[in-house]
Amino acid sequence: MADGSSETKSSNQMWGGRFASGPDAIMEEINASIGFDKKLYAQDIRGSIAHATMLAHQGIISAEDKDKIVHGLDTILSEIDSGAFEFSRRLEDIHMNIEARLAALIGPAAGRLHTARSRNDQVALDFRLWVKEELQKTEKALTGLIAAFLDRAEEHAETVMPGFTHLQTAQPVTFGHHCMAYVEMFGRDRARVRHAIEHMDESPIGAAALAGTGFPIDRHMTAKALGFREPTRNSIDTVSDRDFALEFLSIAAIAATHLSRLAEEIVIWSTPQFGFVRLSDAFSTGSSIMPQKKNPDAAELVRAKTGRVNGSLVALLTVMKGLPLAYSKDMQEDKEQVFDAAESLELAIAAMTGMIRDVTIRADRMKAAAGSGYSTATDLADWLVREAGLPFRDAHHVTGRVVALAEQKGCDLADLPLAELQAINSAITDKVYGVLTVEASVASRTSFGGTAPSEVRKQIAWWRARN
Ligand code: ARG
Repeated sequence: MADGSSETKSSNQMWGGRFASGPDAIMEEINASIGFDKKLYAQDIRGSIAHATMLAHQGIISAEDKDKIVHGLDTILSEIDSGAFEFSRRLEDIHMNIEARLAALIGPAAGRLHTARSRNDQVALDFRLWVKEELQKTEKALTGLIAAFLDRAEEHAETVMPGFTHLQTAQPVTFGHHCMAYVEMFGRDRARVRHAIEHMDESPIGAAALAGTGFPIDRHMTAKALGFREPTRNSIDTVSDRDFALEFLSIAAIAATHLSRLAEEIVIWSTPQFGFVRLSDAFSTGSSIMPQKKNPDAAELVRAKTGRVNGSLVALLTVMKGLPLAYSKDMQEDKEQVFDAAESLELAIAAMTGMIRDVTIRADRMKAAAGSGYSTATDLADWLVREAGLPFRDAHHVTGRVVALAEQKGCDLADLPLAELQAINSAITDKVYGVLTVEASVASRTSFGGTAPSEVRKQIAWWRARN
């Protein structure tokens, strides 16, 4: 504290005579949250200003006291912003640190701020405001990532690559189509974010300790002042639940899992064996001993951050699962999980957006790989159904024999002489070569949501109109 006097006071001493001395060192250590909840200072001050303004409007405190409180809180805000504020662990948390400083600055009027509220609704408010802002940031970040993918998808609507199942070459697809798969995933993540913002858009302040208050407060007024749609409807639920934090963590875990799969693909694609992409220097590192190496560290770290985010979700679920209503101090453990997950997710999205924008696509390598592994075998089977009238099961069998022949000769399907194809099935004509190339294969898959460049372009346009 700037004046030094409240430095020696503990939070217990601030509220009365029941506690003869301050908590001992271990109690202070386990109890204090200021080390991490100082992050909530701006939200705490905003909440207090809205609360004091409402108290004065309702005639619960005088306009004069309200002015002193608001002025004092503004001063504290700039003290914290500028780094001049001294946080004290003896004062436990951000709420008591600010209140103690307010008392030092404005005297007895400070004691009126806590009328008709409790730290229980105060912390629920601060944290909800913080999570809501974080969700809004996440929404923006995801929009940026989707935009990066749309640009790459457009650029590579016709670039063929192998599509995989079991990481075995399955059928040729376009790289644009593969990019659009991620657009769908991150688009759903963003929809979840929007939905969560709507869910949590209710103001907790005024629920007080758990039962509401006898003071004639106006919770609709504070809700409006703080940018919430309306006040929460049950004071017990308001101070008990943290599902807004759990929802944030679940969304973060799903999005991080999507990012991790993408990171894993980048790691695989950037190996010399695959060589589908070349990472920019900005998102890779060299080896201290092997000069030829370029390591996809950023992608690996995105993959690893997912472990932290998923861990945070499980940690908070576990904290909450045994708690009787209403508030228990266990809930103080909600913040670090959310802060850590938020930081990891923000960083992971930013790194991935950068990588997607920067990465060099090696279309020649993708195309060569797309043609290997008999990836157009299904096209041959489909052709036999369409052009030669075979039942699909028979066509599958014929195609199997054709693949075995190519394997035996060590060549691609398109390199097999017509006579040898006809020896397997006499209905085959030279028109079959038209479907055996990877370009013909992808161009033919025009079903809604399919990989044909024409269809991919349609889906890009649909997303562009919504991003
Ligand atoms: N630091 C506390 C938390 O984060 C604030 C609420 C304290 N409330 C209480 N009844 N002790 O949960």
